Amino acid sequence: MAQIVGGITTSHIPAIGNAIARGLQDEPYWKPFFDGYPPVHDWLDRMQPDVAVVVYNDHGLNFFLDQIPTFAVGAAAEYCNEDEGWGLKPLPPFPGDPEFSWHVIESLVNDEFDITMCQEMKVDHGFVVPMSLLWTGRGKKPIKAIPVEVNTVQHPLPSPARCYKLGQAIGRAVASYPGDCKVVVLGTGGMSHQLDGTRAGFINRDFDMMCMERIVNDPESLAGMSIHDLIREAGAQGAEFIQWLVMRGALGERVSKIHSNYHIPISNTASGLLVLEKAA
Ligand code: DHB
Ligand code: FE
Repeated sequence: MAQIVGGITTSHIPAIGNAIARGLQDEPYWKPFFDGYPPVHDWLDRMQPDVAVVVYNDHGLNFFLDQIPTFAVGAAAEYCNEDEGWGLKPLPPFPGDPEFSWHVIESLVNDEFDITMCQEMKVDHGFVVPMSLLWTGRGKKPIKAIPVEVNTVQHPLPSPARCYKLGQAIGRAVASYPGDCKVVVLGTGGMSHQLDGTRAGFINRDFDMMCMERIVNDPESLAGMSIHDLIREAGAQGAEFIQWLVMRGALGERVSKIHSNYHIPISNTASGLLVLEKAA
């Protein structure tokens, strides 16, 4: 049976993708950020996952304000990005796993998550930058992906509790897949940031630290926040932390923390990095 081996959370800021493309990893501005990643690469090289469930939010490339699903799952053979206006270059397509995707979709719908199913799906920086950070940006082949897209753009957003439960349902979906494969779950986005309005530039280090600590052993206390609590404490785009809660829900009750890094700011954002291994 398929099994989840662990989860990784990472920021997805477009500037990171441009820094990788230009080879700026050792520049003083970027070094403390990129120095967080070699232990994650070591863990990935040791665990050798076959498939990544990539929980992320689209920012207007595939879904726009006219039509936004709350939860969408990709079932395509491959996923392409496009120029979104951030300077990120179109990259070779990322491979999918349609058979596994359809299993996840069917399992989620049977589990009362009425998600949108996408046989075509363009992936934006929320998906592509983590892929570059973890695989392609260090010369590795991209892993097969099952994109899980969660709305953080158009209110009403799903509650942290709903996202945590979606993660638990993804955990059940993977555990019931009769393929012999190892799965890593990515939660991309966050941590605190706000890009617009009177609080543009807002970062909340204390809140981020609390989230990084509690997501390991007390995720339910974070799932108990309202989406408005989260936005007040983490900023309008800090709502992306709900992607982390989906990841954490999928891992099940007991996890151990393998690695973490926190660095502020990268662009306008507090960047948080976490590797959690699923306890046996
Ligand atoms: C930035 C952060 C984001 O989450 C995003 O989607 C785009 C840009 C930033 O801080 O620049
Ligand atoms: Fe974002």
